[in-house]
Amino acid sequence: MALEFRAPDWNTYHMDYGKPHRQLEPPEKEIAVVDAALNALREAGALPQTSYDHAKLLAMRAAVQEHFEIPWTAITPRMQRFLYAVNAIKQPAVMVAAGCFCGNTFISNAGAGVGPGACYTARQLVGVEIKPEEAARAERNVRRIDPTGVARVVADDAVHFVAELREPIGILYLDADGTGKRGKGVYLDILQAGYKRMPKGSLVLAHNSVNSAAQLKEYLSFVRDPVQFHASINVIMDGEGLEVSVR
Ligand SMILES: C[S@@+](CC[C@H](N)C(=O)[O-])C[C@H]1O[C@@H](n2cnc3c(N)ncnc32)[C@H](O)[C@@H]1O
Repeated sequence: MALEFRAPDWNTYHMDYGKPHRQLEPPEKEIAVVDAALNALREAGALPQTSYDHAKLLAMRAAVQEHFEIPWTAITPRMQRFLYAVNAIKQPAVMVAAGCFCGNTFISNAGAGVGPGACYTARQLVGVEIKPEEAARAERNVRRIDPTGVARVVADDAVHFVAELREPIGILYLDADGTGKRGKGVYLDILQAGYKRMPKGSLVLAHNSVNSAAQLKEYLSFVRDPVQFHASINVIMDGEGLEVSVR
């Protein structure tokens, strides 16, 4: 079942990639858009309910602003809130984020399980980044807000890491941009490496469903095929987009 949630102003809601912490709209508006998107996920059977702790999201946001080195990011405040909320609601014991660059995408997901925004106890939350120097920076960033090590960043090819992981994956977040023409097409390779270990009800979140839709054609056909996924919702709150697929 292929579905879509589209915020009316998605095309005029823009961030400056070099200013990750800038507020783009009044908080009530950000909350309302994210609530509407969460509701679309609930109606599609991807989430059991839509409530999450707003104060904890803000605590996570403040800690990232204070402690993370972020050269640039395409994660808008709406997307950060949405990723946090989805993780806070689903509470995955194991979450893997593939292609995490400096760690901002990773902590938007993992921040529901560790640090000042934590609202549940996770088993392992892993960010995978193929460039060793970026993985090292992301790991430094994460360590500043999570002393426990439950959240960590490893330097590896996400296809290899996911294939080797022996645990069921509750949430798989995809943001890797492979080399050459394949680019974001690598999402399908990563998903196929872990697909068999994704139980019923688990989620795959794929960033750039809008601005990389051409490169993601094969990936989107796979997750929108009801043989593979119960439902897949293209969440369009900003110019990047996020495809949310439920097993
Ligand atoms: C464009 S960045 C993601 C940034 C993120 N959207 C943000 O706004 O912060 C994609 C990252 O994926 C990494 N990458 C590419 N192929 C990968 C792979 N096979 N496994 C893990 N990481 C990979 C790249 O090195 C890069 O840091």
